[in-house]
Amino acid sequence: MRILIIGGGGREHALAWKLSQSSSVEAIFCVPGNAGIAAIAHCVKVDMEDLPALAALARKNKVDLTIVGPEAPLVAGIVDYFWQEGLTILGPERKAALLEGSKVWAKEFMMEYGIPTAGYEFFSNYQAALDYVRHQERPLVIKADGLAAGKGVYVTNNTEEADMALQQIMVDKIYGDAGNRVVIEEKLQGEEVSLLALTDGNDFWVMPSSQDHKPIGEGDSGPNTGGMGAYSPAPVINFAKTKYVKEKVFKPLIEGMQRKSLIYRGVIYAGLMITDDGPKVLEFNARFGDPETQAILPRLNSDLASVLLSAAKGKLKGDWHWKDEAAVCVIMASGGYPGSYEKGKVIKGLDDAAQEAGVFVFHSGTAKEGKLIVTAGGRVLSITAMETGIKEAVEKAYRAVDKIDFEGAYCRRDIAYRAL
Ligand code: AMP
Ligand code: GLY
Repeated sequence: MRILIIGGGGREHALAWKLSQSSSVEAIFCVPGNAGIAAIAHCVKVDMEDLPALAALARKNKVDLTIVGPEAPLVAGIVDYFWQEGLTILGPERKAALLEGSKVWAKEFMMEYGIPTAGYEFFSNYQAALDYVRHQERPLVIKADGLAAGKGVYVTNNTEEADMALQQIMVDKIYGDAGNRVVIEEKLQGEEVSLLALTDGNDFWVMPSSQDHKPIGEGDSGPNTGGMGAYSPAPVINFAKTKYVKEKVFKPLIEGMQRKSLIYRGVIYAGLMITDDGPKVLEFNARFGDPETQAILPRLNSDLASVLLSAAKGKLKGDWHWKDEAAVCVIMASGGYPGSYEKGKVIKGLDDAAQEAGVFVFHSGTAKEGKLIVTAGGRVLSITAMETGIKEAVEKAYRAVDKIDFEGAYCRRDIAYRAL
């Protein structure tokens, strides 16, 4: 099998690494990839939203399956385009990707099919939104409707903060057209967990649970990032709650897509809050999570390529098995991230860190400069460790982190604290 992966972060490195272990996989291509992915795949520089160029690349290299990492190409309709070209690709068609591409669409979908989520209103008029928040006593969460690279969500504590969020989204338009509409919802209390499922449009298989750490600072302080670390499994969700999410979230979602005649073959990412009233959906993503994937895939004991191909072809086949061990992923970031940061810092100690068995050094934002590997993004490395338990995995992950050095390197020191 010949595979094309779209994306160039830690999630795509973990995917490429796991796929490279499949005996059925003959070659892996990656657009654009990074310095770590380049060691196991052919990296090609093509614009990730240039659909004709991506399809041409897949055809030229006789690719059997394309896997899309980030959301933007899905929302731009890469799946529809590849299908028209007769290519096999894993992901929802453009209209089904609105589950991630439009928070208003996702909320209306959840209401229609009875999927548990926070109560909400949506507005396209700034004045009406402002009047609404000024008359609410409870804390609100304000979300830009469209894609905002994970930044368009404001968890507010009072009217002033809510006013400011509306100002930034709807007036200053800091997320552009993504802020033409806002969802305003009740703030839920509880602990978060990510549950990902793979669907062929009919049937679905759930992956082990995981938990992301979005804020930059320890104890979940400071601004949100793309994710500073993850671990799997997340003990906050037990067997009974997972069963509830299968029945009340994934099953109605897939049935809803079918009723709307939308084809969704790919990964459904449910971001959940475990509240006193049970799990509720905070958001859906139409793809693998980053950094959840870096903590989930090392636990997979089966051939990922054949399972993903079967889903993309519309009939999940075979089975997958997961290791009992825990996995913990710590993100090493550039100093200054998620604000401005410098690139091009030489990274040392990568080989040394990867020496210990059960340590995986996934690259998030790296590039090659001659023989050197340098930083090339806000999130630089995803250091994952597997061990018998979460505590042991945490220790092992930080042992590896401490062997790596680059100027300004930053990581949270408390990844997985909720599970410990
Ligand atoms: P989202 O991109 O919608 O998942 O939102 C980003 C983050 O904002 C989530 O991971 C939560 O930490 C937080 N969040 C979103 N919606 C809510 C909500 N209704 N109540 C509390 N926190 C929320
Ligand atoms: N870990 C959050 C995301 O992938 O969107």
